[in-house]
Amino acid sequence: MPGALQADPLPFRNTPALPALRLLTCGSVDDGKSTLIGRLLYEQSLILDDQLAALERDSRRHGTDGDNIDFSLLVDGLEAEREQGITIDVAYRYVSTPRRSFIIADTPGHEQYTRNMATGASGADLAILLVDARKGLLTQTCRHAAIVSLTGIKHVVLAVNKIDLTSFGRAGFEKITADFKSFAAALDFKTVTAIPVSARHGDNISKKSANTLWYDGPSLIDYLETIDVAEDGGGRPFRFAVQWVNRPHLDFRGFSGTVASGTIRPGDEIVVAGSGRLTKVARIVTADGDLASAAAGDAVTLTLTDELDIARGDILCDPKNRPEVSGQFAAHLIWMSEDRLLPGRSYLMKADTRTIPATVTELKHRLDVNTLGELPAKTLSLNEVGVCNLATTAPLAFDPYKANHTTGAFILIDRATNATAAAGLIAHGLRRAANIHLQGLSVDKQDRSRIKHHKPAVLWFTGLSGSGKSTIANLVETRLYAHGVHTILLDGDNVRHGLNKDLGFTEADRVENIRRIGEVAKLMTEAGLITLCSFISPFRPERIMVRELLGENEFIEIFVDTPLEECIARDPKGLYRRAIAGEIKNFTGIDQSYEPPEAPELIVARDKQTAEQAAARIVALLTARGLIDHIDDLGDDWSI
Ligand code: ADX
Repeated sequence: MPGALQADPLPFRNTPALPALRLLTCGSVDDGKSTLIGRLLYEQSLILDDQLAALERDSRRHGTDGDNIDFSLLVDGLEAEREQGITIDVAYRYVSTPRRSFIIADTPGHEQYTRNMATGASGADLAILLVDARKGLLTQTCRHAAIVSLTGIKHVVLAVNKIDLTSFGRAGFEKITADFKSFAAALDFKTVTAIPVSARHGDNISKKSANTLWYDGPSLIDYLETIDVAEDGGGRPFRFAVQWVNRPHLDFRGFSGTVASGTIRPGDEIVVAGSGRLTKVARIVTADGDLASAAAGDAVTLTLTDELDIARGDILCDPKNRPEVSGQFAAHLIWMSEDRLLPGRSYLMKADTRTIPATVTELKHRLDVNTLGELPAKTLSLNEVGVCNLATTAPLAFDPYKANHTTGAFILIDRATNATAAAGLIAHGLRRAANIHLQGLSVDKQDRSRIKHHKPAVLWFTGLSGSGKSTIANLVETRLYAHGVHTILLDGDNVRHGLNKDLGFTEADRVENIRRIGEVAKLMTEAGLITLCSFISPFRPERIMVRELLGENEFIEIFVDTPLEECIARDPKGLYRRAIAGEIKNFTGIDQSYEPPEAPELIVARDKQTAEQAAARIVALLTARGLIDHIDDLGDDWSI
């Protein structure tokens, strides 16, 4: 038990022999994770007097351990707070013993919080996996172990907790240990150490317990104090992601950021990864004066000997050891969202200081966390781990995650909700991307459009089935054609008879439908045409993706905003009747959602105007935008 409790808010009270150990604790609240952390804080006298008084009071009132202190209450308060606000994903706690300091990344333990675990894992040296001695290995334990291994943690402590509740039995402990070791054999751990503990009663936490005389290993603290996690090899190449360009006045131009790996000195040669431009470091500037060198973790401003075009997100590197630069790569994805992965959908990829649209072009397989085998998969759901190919809209400089945890990691953000959808760990660039270069063409889009005497554009009609998209698009095309404008009309029903006949109406198929149409529309635009696209296109991210494929002023989104009731009443193809009767599944507006555009170029409401009036407004918009010449004989029906 602890010595005198003292108020000591400082996390570090000594000069440890070994560097601070960064720990991750994994396990659910039920496994005793909070109790274990509370116990560690308590035994190392890190609980303040007033905290202890409150803890004793709360333990009597709400605790689960009779008159004894319930250590989990110390930690669970924070946890509950997080569950409501979910503002803090990972809390760091500092514990220090006379021999070593520890930084504990405490992540909420419920199954759905695997995502937080992945966040906490990225900087940790060692993971403590908690198992309830009575329950043995659970799927969650295996999942956590797999993710811990993926994130590059090499050392694992299997804390077999609640050993008191199995009468301190040796056989149960040994079975769990053997089960785990055989499971973890396929994972890339350097050490796996099992320790029987009782977080509640303190057995084998600070001191060896008299209740487990059969156990000849160290206590948990003993082990953590002495394990050497230093990575051999060291000497990683220099990487520096530019966070911002620091230009306080014309005579100073520096690039601020944090050294991700390696070291740098004034005079060292560096390369800008994307452009391949070479230069040298002139100065390493900090608020406390210039430095003679900077190493991983240092936040500095670099000035360079040449004026190069460098922006936020660029990576400055060692020219002799450059990162890969590619727009396509393979990666592990840990899916973190309630909304499933949709291959082909545009997500925002955030890799250190860069944000860039990215799609999963292929999901190769999903990981079976119990067997570590590969399962065929079309999507990833919450907490699932998969191996994918991804494509970004522009080339990206990166390293494999194994070589560099900073330049090899990223997250995917859902563009509709802005929530984190996945954590990603890059495996390698795709060779096929490296071998395909854009072919320069002598005749370009401008040339092709010049001989047509109008500019190219995409008129994107979106709205419910039966809203009138195709009718209006058809009227617009007829009118444009009559005036010598070169057009093409891509219509959902028609394209689904040819190019997209392999697609149905699941979310995934609709995403792919629009992705292909976007690419086709882009080609048509290259040909100099005014391209009319009439597709329900129910989801915002895909419409945004098509917009981003095209140039400024080339994408005109027209929302045909006919209310659902009106579409149902009209039901031109009898499809709503069948969908309501349950005969057609995934019908937009009935059992699948429609996400209206947030800022379309034009809204036409079919219940408020005729199709001709709507078409007239669209033609007028094309003229106003300078895409076509003025058309003045629109006819009587066409008065706006
Ligand atoms: S989209 O959602 O992928 O853009 P698209 O516009 O190509 O859809 O095709 C929609 C047309 O397919 C509708 O106008 C309708 O005639 C037909 N259709 C058949 N089944 C469905 C369904 N489940 N949901 C919506 N439309 C359907």
